[in-house]
Amino acid sequence: MSAISLPKLSAITSSPVGAEVLSGLTAHPKTLSPWLFYDEAGSRLFEAITELPEYYVTRTERSILTKHADEIIAAAAGGRDLSMIELGAGTATKTGLLLEAAIRLQGSVTYYPIDVSETALQEARTRLEVQLPEVTVEPVVADYTDGMRQNKGASGFGAGRRLVLYIGSSIGNFSPADALDVLRSVRSQLLPGDCLLLGTDMVKDTPLLLAAYDDAAGVTAEFNKNVLVRMNRELGANFNPQLFRHRARWNEEHSRIEMHLESLLAQRVPIGALDLEVRFALGETIHTENSYKFTDQRVLALLTRAGFKLRRQWSDANSWFTVYLASAN
Ligand code: AVJ
Repeated sequence: MSAISLPKLSAITSSPVGAEVLSGLTAHPKTLSPWLFYDEAGSRLFEAITELPEYYVTRTERSILTKHADEIIAAAAGGRDLSMIELGAGTATKTGLLLEAAIRLQGSVTYYPIDVSETALQEARTRLEVQLPEVTVEPVVADYTDGMRQNKGASGFGAGRRLVLYIGSSIGNFSPADALDVLRSVRSQLLPGDCLLLGTDMVKDTPLLLAAYDDAAGVTAEFNKNVLVRMNRELGANFNPQLFRHRARWNEEHSRIEMHLESLLAQRVPIGALDLEVRFALGETIHTENSYKFTDQRVLALLTRAGFKLRRQWSDANSWFTVYLASAN
């Protein structure tokens, strides 16, 4: 055990982080959920990733939203008053483009950002209230996979038409089955005619994908390894990040980029707060993230099965990223 004092084992294993690490690192193969990346340092590293030359995702989606915001908002509103809900809003930097379009169309708009991070929501709210006083921000601190259900129900989130934003290809972290569950749960909170704006990263040349998840400056490697640093700090673990290597792989069969942390030697790592010692063989990995890449056909099937009808779609000139507007049946 380390010298620092830690909460009781029972308290730690029932905390979300402790429970996730215990189940993930005692499983075969070892896995950890990508939500573990996003502590304060990890959220900052992700922001840095979005500005990397290799990480085309954010800037490509932003270019699509910049070009088509007015069309998107007009199509979603259909002549009625629109309120906007964002799933996993974070600091909501791309959302401003759509909020501005809603202001142009209807003068003001109510915006419900849903996120697990209260600090990110506060930051979004403070910034938006200064930059766009016509926006009323109603933050919802929740895991968006149940946040819509938990907080408002079908009649919540404003009286008019609702537009749910699920952008940034965040849906790409979910397996196809889980992605379908998330969209069905969103659908269950909407009324016919309400809309979903879904942004997905598309299948493209493998070298482009690999570079986006293994950048030259090593920011993505640091983001991946931050999960080790987090376990050290929050669970009294003793991971040496230098003894792991960041790996990005394209899994063709499942159409996904995988991120792993590969052990550079056989080693044993104690995790004090879990009263656990984790053994690694040379070359063994912790699978830390899946980032699914989509085709039109797959997104269409997903939307249809979840109870949505595709209305419009917008892409960049390279078809690297697509934004879909679908309405609830
Ligand atoms: C936030 C899930 C969309 O999969 O591209 C970026 C996270 N991971 N670089 C993605 C991420 C490594 C990102 N998403």
